[in-house]
Amino acid sequence: MIKSREGSTTKIPKKEIIHRISTGVSELDRALEGGIPKGSWVAITGEPGTGKSILCMHFAWAGIKAGDPVVYVTTEAEFRDVLKQAKMFGMDFEQYRILDISSSKQYQEANPPHIVVIDIFGLLKIARQISSTDEEGKKRFHYALSIETLIASINEAYKILGVLREGSKTPQKHVRLIIDSISAFWADKPAMARRYSYDLKVATHRENVTAYLVSQYAMTTKSTFGFGLEHIADGVFHLWMDDVEKTKEVKRYMIIKKMRMTNHVRKAFLVEIEPGKGFVLTPLG
Ligand SMILES: Nc1ncnc2c1ncn2[C@@H]1O[C@H](COP(=O)(O)OP(=O)(O)O)[C@@H](O)[C@H]1O
Ligand SMILES: [Mg+2]
Repeated sequence: MIKSREGSTTKIPKKEIIHRISTGVSELDRALEGGIPKGSWVAITGEPGTGKSILCMHFAWAGIKAGDPVVYVTTEAEFRDVLKQAKMFGMDFEQYRILDISSSKQYQEANPPHIVVIDIFGLLKIARQISSTDEEGKKRFHYALSIETLIASINEAYKILGVLREGSKTPQKHVRLIIDSISAFWADKPAMARRYSYDLKVATHRENVTAYLVSQYAMTTKSTFGFGLEHIADGVFHLWMDDVEKTKEVKRYMIIKKMRMTNHVRKAFLVEIEPGKGFVLTPLG
């Protein structure tokens, strides 16, 4: 703002600054001109064993390092196993405050957890809480793996983290949201993927939330399970491996297929998953 001679104030148009969020993998940050633009919703797609879950761990770890609260939804593995796996790559989450939404443990407002974990038990707990009886006395059940339960659980996590200001739905502090995997929520209705991901985006995706959404790949059709997430996402990291029957070894690759609001490397990377380190990327070509 500048003061004019008459004493009124004039707004000087500010150059749009893009805040970058580290992926926790330095080569990937470099390939994105410093990181993911803040507030992006990134789909992680790929067949089993390509490294999707490990990529999520790097993102959460980078969050801890940056002081960002983390909401970690895990439907594929127990968080205990996520912790064990992450430790093999030098990411020791157990040094930090972790709150499982299904436990009765509480943290003081002044000392909120670093990570809120939502696993299947947490989802079951929230599903029970939001199930209600309507005016005619009919019970309305919510399933643990429904998009409504997921939304309610994430909002509960924001509350626990203390990032919501009274009456506001937008976190006042930057939050990292990880959902591994989102496909679990439309397992029985793949045709609903677009609608569900849209609902989720509207309900939880705010400018102060940067999200990773793991989407499984249907091996048979070689396409993302459920159609639509990739269209709604601001970014897509796609992972794959060579046909192991031909190459007789596991050779993994990753490509930044899309990322809004930034330039990025358009060539694929060779992915090595190394003990003690995790993801190591080598540019191809
Ligand atoms: N300690 C380790 N050292 C090296 N590679 C590992 C280690 N732990 C797991 N991996 C590799 O990571 C792969 C699993 O990656 P993950 O992220 O779980 O895949 P996805 O989620 O895509 O199914 C394993 O198949 C294995 O090849
Ligand atoms: Mg996985």
